[in-house]
Amino acid sequence: MTAEVRHSEPRSWLFVPADSEKKIAKAIDSNADAVIFDLEDSVAADRKAQAREILKALPARSTGPQWWVRINPIGSDDHKTDLELIANADVHGVVLPKAESGADIIQLAHRTGNIPIHAIVTETAASLFNLLSYRDPRSPLAAMSWGAEDLSAALGASSKYDESGELAFTYKLARSLCLAGAAAAGVQPVDGVFADFRDGEGLRAEAEAAAREGFTGKLAIHPAQVAVINAAFTPSAAEVEHARAIVEAFDCQPGAGVLSVGGRMVDRPHLLAARRVLARTREEKS
Ligand code: COA
Ligand code: MG
Repeated sequence: MTAEVRHSEPRSWLFVPADSEKKIAKAIDSNADAVIFDLEDSVAADRKAQAREILKALPARSTGPQWWVRINPIGSDDHKTDLELIANADVHGVVLPKAESGADIIQLAHRTGNIPIHAIVTETAASLFNLLSYRDPRSPLAAMSWGAEDLSAALGASSKYDESGELAFTYKLARSLCLAGAAAAGVQPVDGVFADFRDGEGLRAEAEAAAREGFTGKLAIHPAQVAVINAAFTPSAAEVEHARAIVEAFDCQPGAGVLSVGGRMVDRPHLLAARRVLARTREEKS
């Protein structure tokens, strides 16, 4: 296996069950910025060994999405076997499900030679109390995402939704804590899965809302979701133009604390936001 860097901060992270060669071929040919070969929940226990063999046999690629592997959670027997695979695989990074705190990341980093880690940080009950613990300068943590399915199972919920059909408060809380925890840790905040993969309009609305709030990418479970997610997390031409105007205004007056750009007040928080938009600007749009 060989990984290839397409973007430093992937917008779309496409899951693919690692026991399906057909889906793997489709995923690595897609426009996803990153693919996540899943060895955890989407692969039945008696298929995991076969899935690892499939990953081992994947021929190297020099173009296309980053390659990540979702291993099984810390403490499981499969976790240990997955680590043997990771030790011999040339992948961009590992995705750790059911992460409970920053200590899990340090432990995993010791075992994987510090390759980048994307942690799914809201899947257990205890995890919700530890979202600030990922802030560790020694950590190879690159991204944090949140998950509602495993959390609702862990909490004994019969549904993730309230009576109006919206995510219930507990899951909104998990999502916001993931966002703030990732910002505090200085890593990429990645929004969770939109499960109804035939509802492109619903996905677009959810991804755009996530982008407005500060997430810079989103998990995907189906190739049809990739283009919608990439578009939602690519700054528009108008946003880029506005960001450039703000940065240029401060470049021209480096000593200024507050300025007027396009008839509006801009100060330091606007400058930081503008720089972030420019950092996320891509030459190719897909
Ligand atoms: N990656 C790559 N290819 C995928 C894919 C994925 N995540 N999901 C579907 N495809 C392929 C299908 O194999 C199918 O290929 P074909 O046209 O050659 O037959 C094509 O895309 C259309 O798929 P579709 O028929 O719409 O969906 P499906 O019923 O085959 O699959 C799921 C639905 C949910 C089972 C499938 O999307 C999937 O496995 N998603 C990933 C699940 C996962 O990894 N979960 C863990 C994280 S929550
Ligand atoms: Mg899961």
